[in-house]
Parts: sequence; structure tokens; C-alpha cells
Amino acid sequence: MSFPSINPVNTKAWGQLQKHFDELKNQHISQLFSDDDSRAARFSLEWENFYLDYSKNRVNSQTMDLLLQLADEVKLKDAIAAQFSGEHINQTEDRAVRHTALRDFENMPKEVKKTLKKMRVFSKKVIDKSWKGFTSKAITDVVNIGIGGSDLGPDMVTEALSFYKNHLRVHYISNVDGDHVQETLKKLNRETTLFIIVSKTFTTQETLTNASTVRNWFLKEATILDIESHFVAVSTNLKEVQNFGIAPENIFPMWDWVGGRFSLWSAVGLSICCAVGYSNFEKLLRGAHQMDCHFKNTSFKHNLPVVMALLSVWYNNFFKTETEAIVPYSQYLSKFVPYLQQAIMESNGKQIDRNQMSVNYQTGTVIWGSTGTNAQHAFFQLLHQGTKLIPVDFITFAKALYKQDHHQEILLANCFAQSEALLNGTKGEVVENSYKQFEGNRPSNTLLIKQLTPENFGALIALYEHKLFVQGVIWNIFSYDQWGVELGKKLAKGTLNALQNKSSGNMHPATEKLLLKSKR
Ligand code: F6P
Repeated sequence: MSFPSINPVNTKAWGQLQKHFDELKNQHISQLFSDDDSRAARFSLEWENFYLDYSKNRVNSQTMDLLLQLADEVKLKDAIAAQFSGEHINQTEDRAVRHTALRDFENMPKEVKKTLKKMRVFSKKVIDKSWKGFTSKAITDVVNIGIGGSDLGPDMVTEALSFYKNHLRVHYISNVDGDHVQETLKKLNRETTLFIIVSKTFTTQETLTNASTVRNWFLKEATILDIESHFVAVSTNLKEVQNFGIAPENIFPMWDWVGGRFSLWSAVGLSICCAVGYSNFEKLLRGAHQMDCHFKNTSFKHNLPVVMALLSVWYNNFFKTETEAIVPYSQYLSKFVPYLQQAIMESNGKQIDRNQMSVNYQTGTVIWGSTGTNAQHAFFQLLHQGTKLIPVDFITFAKALYKQDHHQEILLANCFAQSEALLNGTKGEVVENSYKQFEGNRPSNTLLIKQLTPENFGALIALYEHKLFVQGVIWNIFSYDQWGVELGKKLAKGTLNALQNKSSGNMHPATEKLLLKSKR
């Protein structure tokens, strides 16, 4: 078995899809519904607590057959098997991609089991107040210091699972903007705060700068010896963590086979454990694993991540849409879109294919969105009447966590009504003037999930992880590296030297001017 590298444009399916697109592009989804009584049922999938309605897309049975054929022709099956078998499918970094192993309790590597146990024991002590600070007081606040995957995932999950939270206040410091750090520190008491420094590499400038500012703040009233009861770290770089002054027993390991943006399932999730307790964290993992099994074992036709990925490819490469909106109708999911932006755009924002050739087709979609109903009063105007075609994923939960039926009914009614309006527009209605006219035919998926439980939420995150992987396979790109971001890390160093007057080097004239103005 090996990771395939097939140019999708050279497949038979691609050419057929192009022809099919020309026939289908002007058909209205409402017509497709009129032509087929069973469309709503036929274009939907049900799995565990998930229901995916994809009937409101600009597809018919032939479209789906051809997209499935495309998945076969690019050897998606082999790609999935290669990922799960631990093959080094992240070839440009020569690494395996094993975040799914972090949630597979039956076949878990020994070191993962050991780390989970360490997370359980540690978070329990912090929650039950047996972990004491340097003046023997219990911990009240936990601060995660990290950026990118070492911040977005845990922050997003902690927010999403707020309903399950305990008494601990959990904060996230990520931006190297000193004001961000100070605004957080302002709320904290040194005696009762625990800092978790999260950095896979432990070389990230933002995180190390923030961590040392926080350490200096702490040492204003405490001693070096007190660090051990207030600072722990999550990293692969054990040596650098110890150089920072963190005791070896306070280090939670992670491994190079876990990508930063897929690491919330590892010890990077320690702040989640503190916020909602280890058992809820384990439920999150188990839910994600259920989705892994579904993804690995289900025929593509009935496979949630595969179907969602194929639809996205259909719009991106044939309708030439550039963006996709994701609108969760749940305030708990307010940080889900920024999290997905890193997961999806850092993964699939690539233009060199797996044969080291420039691609001659579009890859990574631009992801954006925010929560409904708020988004309806913000950007929905453009979705309904703008000139751009923007496929939307609506995500919602059938049952609310607090029993407030009236609110829930209004929330769901809005969610369902919006997708219907995007589809139908004002077709068939008499409207006063063209300003009030909506053409409709704007596609969407609706993911209806029973309730926001840790298990269901784990499965939802895993669904999008697998969706982006499938897209990367089809586009023949490497989804698991991020060389573009690495470049940014190097770039800032020269500019920083110039800002600090250490060397002006080969400054770009525009940058030079900005530097001058910034010193006024
Ligand atoms: O943003 C780029 C990146 O490399 C991400 O992939 C990663 O999540 C983030 O930086 C943080 O890196 P680290 O955990 O090593 O500090």
C-alpha cells in the first residue's frame, strides 16, 4: 500500500464531471426537488446522532456517481489505509499522521496511554483542590499559553463544552501582543494560577515570549522554587522545556506524528481536561474515534466526511466558488470557525502537488462564518443577494442543553428557514420590484446533531478533519505540512533585528519606511 499521487484532472471522472457540469449548471435546485419526490430522503445520510441533509445542493444522482468515481480513481481508499496504517504520508516532513491513534483506546500506543493517565491524575488534583500553589492555596485559574494548534483547538473545545465546566476559570494567551498578556494577567492572582505552556516545538517566538513575560510576572512575588507548582508544559522538545525551568515531572509529552492543528486530542488538551474533567475529555476522544471508524469502514456513498468533501470539490473546481461559509446555530460553537480556518486552510492552502508539479486547478477553499442567528444580521445579505455563489454548512443541535424550548424552536426555525430561502429564493412569488427578488439556487448542507455532548462534538471535529484530508487527497497535495507558515517565522526575525537597531540588513524600502514611522 502506498500513498497515491494521481492528478485528478487526468482522471476519466474529471472530464465527465466537466461535461456534466455544463448540463447541470443552470438547473435550479427547486426544480430538482419538483422532479423527485424522494429527493430529501435520497440526498441525506444518517449516522449515530448525526443527520446530514445534502439535498439542497446543485447535484443529482449522476453528479454524486461521478464524484464517487473521482474518489475511486484518485485511490482515496488507499490513501485512507495509508494514513491509518502509520505510513509517512506527510512526505515533505517524513512523518506519519497519527492523530487518530490518540483516540483509539483499543489500539493505543503505550506512551499515549501513559500520557492520558498523567493528564487524568494531574487534572483531578487541580480540580479537587489537592494541587496547591506556593502559599498552599488551591488553584482557581488555569492559563494555556500557546498559539495556532496549541491554542485554537483547546480554546474552541473549552468554549464549546462550557455547559460541562467546573469551577476553574480557564484562560488562553496566544497573541504576542503584550496587551493580550497584560489583560489576562490583570485578572489573575499569582498564588492560585496554574500556567500550561503548550508548544510542540518549544521554539515558537510568540509562545516563548509570552511564557517568559508571565514567568517574570510570577517571580515578582514568588521564587524560582515555586515555579514547579505553577508551571507545566506540553511539548515534544523536553530539553528546551527543562531549560525554561520546568521540572521533568511537569512535562506532558507529545509526538512528531501529531500535527499541531490536529493536536487537541493529545496532551495539548490538558486545559480542556482541567476545564471539564478528564472523563468528559475521554468522551470527546471516544466520539472522535467513532467518527474515525465510520470514515475508515463505510462505503464512500454513505460516508459523511467523504460526501461533504466531494460536494466541496464539486463547487470549488467546477462552479469555481472560492469560499465556503460555516454557520453553527449554537453559541457554544462561536470559536469553531476560527479553529476550522487553521485546520482547513493551513492544510490545503497548497499549489505544488504530490509529484512536485504546480497544480493547474484550484485547491484549498477559503473558510469563513460565524454563529447563527447573529450571522443572519451580519453577512447573510450577501449570501442571499450577492453576486458570489457561496456554499454554506449549517450545523445545529436538535436538543438544547438548557431546557428552553421556546428559544430552541426559534433557533431551529431560523436555521431551517435560511437554507430553504437560499434554495428557493422568491421563485414563483410576486415581488414588488427587483430589489426584493432572490434568485435562490444557493447551495447548503445541514448537519443536524442530536445534542451538544462531548461525544457528539468529538465526532463533529473529526468529521471536518477527515473532510479536509479527503479534499487534499483529491487535489493531490500534501495536507499535513505548512511550509508557508514556517516562512513567516523566519521573516519576522530579520525585521525584529532592524526594529531593535541590531542590523538593518537588506531592508525592503517599504518596510524601512514603516520601521521609521513606527519609531516616531
Ligand atoms: O502556525 C504554524 C504552526 O506551526 C502550527 O502548525 C502550530 O500549531 C503552531 O505553529 C504552534 O507551534 P508550536 O506548538 O510548536 O508552538
